[in-house]
Amino acid sequence: MNSISRRILGCVVVGCLFAGVVSCDSGDEREGDTWRVYKADAASSSYSSLAQINKDNVGQLEIAWTFDPADALPGMRLGKYECNPIIIDTLLYATSARRHVYAIDARTGEKVWSFDPFQGERGGGNCRGVTYWESGSDKRILFTADHYLYAVNALTGEAIATFGENGRVDLNKNLDTDKEGVWVIPTSPGIIWKDLFIIGGEVSELYDAAPGHIRAYDVRTGERKWIFHTIPHPGEEGYDTWPPDAWKYAGGANNWGGMSLDEKRGIVYAPLGSPTYDFYGADRKGQNLFGNSLVALDANTGKLLWYFQTVHHDLWDYDLPAPANLVTIRRSGKTIDAVALISKTAFLYVFDRVTGEPVFPIEERAVPPSRIPGEEAWPTQPFPLHPAPYARQEMTEGEINDLTPAFRDSIVHALSSLRYEGLFTPPDPKGTLMLPGTRGGAEWGGAAYDPESSVLYINANESPEVARVERVRKSAPKDNQSTYERGRAFYYQNCASCHGPDRAGQEPLYPSLLGVPDRLSKAQVLTVIENGSGRMPAFAPFLEGNRDAIIAFLFDIKTESSPSNSIAVEEDTTTHYFNTTAYGHFSGPSRKPAIKPPWGTLNAIDLNTGEYLWRRPLGNYPDLQAPGAPETGMENWGGPMVTGGGLVFIAATRDNKFRAFDKKTGDVLWETELPGPGYATPATYSCGGRQYVVIAVSGNREDPSGKIIAFALPESIR
Ligand code: HEC
Repeated sequence: MNSISRRILGCVVVGCLFAGVVSCDSGDEREGDTWRVYKADAASSSYSSLAQINKDNVGQLEIAWTFDPADALPGMRLGKYECNPIIIDTLLYATSARRHVYAIDARTGEKVWSFDPFQGERGGGNCRGVTYWESGSDKRILFTADHYLYAVNALTGEAIATFGENGRVDLNKNLDTDKEGVWVIPTSPGIIWKDLFIIGGEVSELYDAAPGHIRAYDVRTGERKWIFHTIPHPGEEGYDTWPPDAWKYAGGANNWGGMSLDEKRGIVYAPLGSPTYDFYGADRKGQNLFGNSLVALDANTGKLLWYFQTVHHDLWDYDLPAPANLVTIRRSGKTIDAVALISKTAFLYVFDRVTGEPVFPIEERAVPPSRIPGEEAWPTQPFPLHPAPYARQEMTEGEINDLTPAFRDSIVHALSSLRYEGLFTPPDPKGTLMLPGTRGGAEWGGAAYDPESSVLYINANESPEVARVERVRKSAPKDNQSTYERGRAFYYQNCASCHGPDRAGQEPLYPSLLGVPDRLSKAQVLTVIENGSGRMPAFAPFLEGNRDAIIAFLFDIKTESSPSNSIAVEEDTTTHYFNTTAYGHFSGPSRKPAIKPPWGTLNAIDLNTGEYLWRRPLGNYPDLQAPGAPETGMENWGGPMVTGGGLVFIAATRDNKFRAFDKKTGDVLWETELPGPGYATPATYSCGGRQYVVIAVSGNREDPSGKIIAFALPESIR
């Protein structure tokens, strides 16, 4: 039954209430008609069966409403607005880029309530959405801000005082660790199993990170009910894959991308990130379970059921970045409930949901050793043989961007100075080429799964970078060097890879630092450098003796000529190996990509066969597109959504486009230009008989808050 006939039926039954009291179609819909959970449902399908908007009419979509949280403070720089909203009855729940929480009327976009976890203070940070729970008339929204988990009344937005301490739980506590000063700041929403709220979290990427343990909290009281040690304690499975004391000091192996849950079997699937420090592991010799593993846990108890480690002893920050998709596929006449796992390496892993057996073969292959003192790269890594990777994993000479012969020569030259022996070449002092790199293949947007056809839709990045791991020493002052000059040297060594040699940054990923003196105080700048922020690592260990210097450089203070107060100190060797080029693009002159297009793609893989149905560039740089060549694709952030209307919706690109593809053919059937990039996963729902498609849109310097925009068909054609 489509939503139009359902609406008519609804009218017959309830006698056509006034429009103002019509509720959304939440009582009688088929599964998948609403979007009650991050990425649609507990299976993380990003699928909706709604079909009012379909292949024939999608071209007529228009804006139904726009919600502007307008909550950024003047001069604030908010990152990507990554929220995937959920819809319960007539309310749409979303976080803002500022990380306030909003309940919005899903039909009009009007604000019903808002909640500011920072109580007027600054604050923010990446957040991908919220979680809903109900029991009778007790309806709650659970979400995190900073290192706190909050529960508020879903109808009023009031904090639930009996939850935790005055409505919140401190996630830095109860982590079964004695480490000082650790923090856990989730970026993706937790998941509900019965009356449990299960969550992981983002932790530091550096040596002093918190362990990424997964915890379940009582939704009613905030009490911790179970914990799964992702870095095993003595006696637990995997403990012997680390040095004996590592469980006391090692960090990471965290679930920051979210989880999925088999509601029939009570199994929660958590993909985990790399152990820290991300690019050097002399203090964590061994295979490092459960870093980079998919773990299947009993949702009632947190007990480990099975696991698969995708990268042993990670040295590349190849985190598993998104919830796995629960899928059902047919192979050799058998129906298999499986779990499909995307990765940054561009491999797709498919396992039996219950046994953890790979559905397609995976081979353990020898990989190159490390040349950095103290490092022991793991000698083998798993390679799935099927399906084929959805992004390039190698950069051969044929893949070099040949914009002009001179451009090509410069890349050939740069490549010849790097170490490169294929995927899983360890980071090196002379620089190792990394491809797909920390920004892709697939990222936190994850994949969309169409249960009608068993096709999985994955967007991917092809964005090489360089990992140059060196021993970073606190610089001894050179004679005659002014504070400003020392600051400049410090900047080139530690900051230029992201903020650019000219401090102009690479928007939108890395901000320009040219206007910093107008925007931030010196103390604020030092806080950012010390603690890091978003994708910027913390530089605390290197800042000592360099504070005045980096401030002099960033604030252009050239007056004083010499006395330097930096002190040369002999340091502990392990913790001062550092990837000084982390997260920077490998590019040529004028920052043009070193690799040929496509730089971003959307892929459709038939999971029954493991074969590609289609593959298309996603996004376009018209000025870099050769005449007659396909679109270039571009780096993309945010996931796809697939619908019963035969469509795959995705924004994600920095050309600000929002597109609908024909899910069978990959043809673009509709596109529109958003007021900013839609670095988020869309959602869809039906309310009052009308299907809406919503997407969070990132802001810009003038209007940092961003927006949520809802699209629908014109009243006249529904
Ligand atoms: C790995 C990439 C990377 C490196 C290396 C890096 N940064 Fe950043 N930096 C970022 C990102 C990304 C942001 C934006 C953070 C956010 O959105 O929360 C940022 C933000 C900042 C800001 C705040 C800018 C603003 O307008 O709010 C300052 C100041 C800054 N960085 C200074 C530095 C300095 C100084 C160094 C070297 C010591 C450095 N960064 C090294 C990535 C990096």
